[in-house]
Amino acid sequence: MASADYSVRDGIALVTIDNPPVNAMTVGVPRAVCEALERAGREPEVVAIVIRGGGSGTIAGADIRMFGKPWPAGEPSLRDIIATVERSPKPVAALIRGQCLGGGLELALSCHYRLAASDSAVGQPEVKLGFPPGAGGTQRLPRLAGVEAALAMILDGNPVPALRARDLGIIDRVVEGDPREAAIAFMRERVAAGGPHVLARDRKLEAPGPDYFAAERTKAEKANRNLRSAQLACIDCVEAAVTLPFDAGIARERAIFETCLASEESRALRHVFFAERAAGKVPGIGKQTAVARIASAAVIGSGTMGTGIAMCFAEAGIPVHVLDTHAPALERGIATIRKSYEASAAKGRLSAADVEKRMSLITPTSVYADLAGADIAIEAVFEDMPVKRAVFAALDRVLEANAILASNTSYLDVDEIAASVPARLGRVLGLHFFSPANLMRLLEIVRTSSATPETVATALALARRLRKLPVVAGVCHGFIGNRMLTGYIREAGFLLEEGASPQQVDKALTDFGMPMGPFAVKDLAGLDIGWRNRKAFAHLRDASKRTSPVDDWICELGRFGQKTGAGYYRYEPGSRAPIPDPLVDELIRKAAKEKGITRREIGHDEIVERCLYPLVNEGAKVLEEGIALRASDIDLVWINGYGFPAWRGGPMHWADTVGLAKVLASVERLARADDTWEPAPLLKRLATERRRFADLDQGVSQNA
Ligand code: 3HC
Repeated sequence: MASADYSVRDGIALVTIDNPPVNAMTVGVPRAVCEALERAGREPEVVAIVIRGGGSGTIAGADIRMFGKPWPAGEPSLRDIIATVERSPKPVAALIRGQCLGGGLELALSCHYRLAASDSAVGQPEVKLGFPPGAGGTQRLPRLAGVEAALAMILDGNPVPALRARDLGIIDRVVEGDPREAAIAFMRERVAAGGPHVLARDRKLEAPGPDYFAAERTKAEKANRNLRSAQLACIDCVEAAVTLPFDAGIARERAIFETCLASEESRALRHVFFAERAAGKVPGIGKQTAVARIASAAVIGSGTMGTGIAMCFAEAGIPVHVLDTHAPALERGIATIRKSYEASAAKGRLSAADVEKRMSLITPTSVYADLAGADIAIEAVFEDMPVKRAVFAALDRVLEANAILASNTSYLDVDEIAASVPARLGRVLGLHFFSPANLMRLLEIVRTSSATPETVATALALARRLRKLPVVAGVCHGFIGNRMLTGYIREAGFLLEEGASPQQVDKALTDFGMPMGPFAVKDLAGLDIGWRNRKAFAHLRDASKRTSPVDDWICELGRFGQKTGAGYYRYEPGSRAPIPDPLVDELIRKAAKEKGITRREIGHDEIVERCLYPLVNEGAKVLEEGIALRASDIDLVWINGYGFPAWRGGPMHWADTVGLAKVLASVERLARADDTWEPAPLLKRLATERRRFADLDQGVSQNA
């Protein structure tokens, strides 16, 4: 129950916000805080007031769940607390512990003083939710920290540690020992000194140079697209702090905040915020589920994936063996890791000592017996079932009975891999890292039919230690992400035959918000692996289904993408800039002619629909089959694994905003024209019932 606790010590009233777990400003909190402040104002023995968060001390700001819902009429809000503080007849201090974020910091900024525990941090993370601070942060922070430092903090949204915040002028004193006692002593000191107790709103603001805001806008235009609109809004607000009187600046900030809050972009980013928190909640796994201790790890394979995964462990401080039976490959792999760390050190991101510490946690070996002590082993060898099964059998022989075996396969049946170690079935799963594994945040945890809750819980806990975003997937070809990718790539290829050019398709999708188009991605990843796989598995292909030969023809010319200087595009030596190639256009026209397709003008919107509706349609199947637990999990996979724009909320959220009836109508029309399309039964059902994917998720999150 949201409330505020009130007590008085040595003439100092302590107002403690009590709304676990993060003291968000839920309905009821502002009323309780305002009442406590007014009481402190009235009581004669009280000479000053300290406001703080209860529990861990963290104050996460406004209640994000309330955005988009009406605030109950007559119910005080965060802005009422701020107004009460600013008209308090007695000086007020904010005592910051844990993280003081968003509206929490805005409340602190409105106080006469700010004290912070040395391990605390402050931040204005609103930009990440698609809007600027809306309770005065953009007006008060520049008055304390200066325009440049304040804007930098508001634009990146990351928390600033207490000591740095003190140096910036945001915090008056960093306190050690018992923060409550320190705050009481500080306020007694200030009262004894007799003031003046100056509010941020009354401080002078130094205007930056004449071109400052224009330059910041240019930077924001070029930077992270996910945050662009909100960043531009933040710049407008901070500029208002410079150009307008304080109260007019506050009004301007509020108007901009409300416009942003109502935008699709903010809705999408808030969806992502809650999606990330929901993803860790897996039905059947809770706080009571045992989690195995992971004190050391082993990675099998020293290629790109194996070395990337080993780096994740080293960066988390977990010792890891890297096994490769091919000595030169092992040597190359370890050298690549060192080179990567040394490159980071050269850029000043790591110290020389950090490089050595990480390298000391990575032990190369070519002998399975050396892995005996590992609590988890992850294989990242060639994508071939017999090879993977042989590796698992070898691991099974040397590892302790309770160690976990994981496969980093991208497509293969993890149940079949698990069957190679029958005595250990419950402790096998897929851990699908994305390349480059040390940088990409997504980790698909592939739950086999026999994996125990403890194994899955251990994988979830490990993911957090490795600073990954875990999403649980069921076993199927390609799991969540790669299974959906197939249709996206397929339709992009078909569009070429029907009249589009690679650059047109790529442009339509980058304009939509994808970081790269499908053909640029293919050239970057290399076309040869898919080509070899197609040749190897040609006998398994359903010859009645439509395919496109262009990929194969390009490969037959020795054009494997960027690494050979040509693929779908040409590349000048040393450059990654794609140059359209008439030769590829010729191949495309030849493919169309052989199939009797009359090429036509294809518009931007059709390209977007044709490439993205397969994601939605396949996503609906993935959801209905239980391969993904939630539509929002699918969104996270596509945002974090494939660069789907977060500001569009992921493919399933985006489909909800387009309208599922509209999506279905297109999918059915495409299915009538081409048998590669099979409308998902779940998509049909939801569209008919006028429901959304989000409606299905609500049930799952509550059950978890
Ligand atoms: N409103 C509502 N719920 C919130 C919340 C908020 N501001 N912040 C966190 N929560 C919820 C989470 O959804 C989660 O709920 P769940 O248990 O039901 O899933 C629970 O609190 C715990 O959160 P985390 O799992 O994220 O806990 P952590 O300890 O890992 O992190 C945190 C704590 C650093 C505070 C992190 O939750 C966070 O970054 N929160 C958001 C902070 C933020 O963006 N604040 C700005 C809000 S907007 C605002 O203030 C507008 C103002 O300018 C007017």
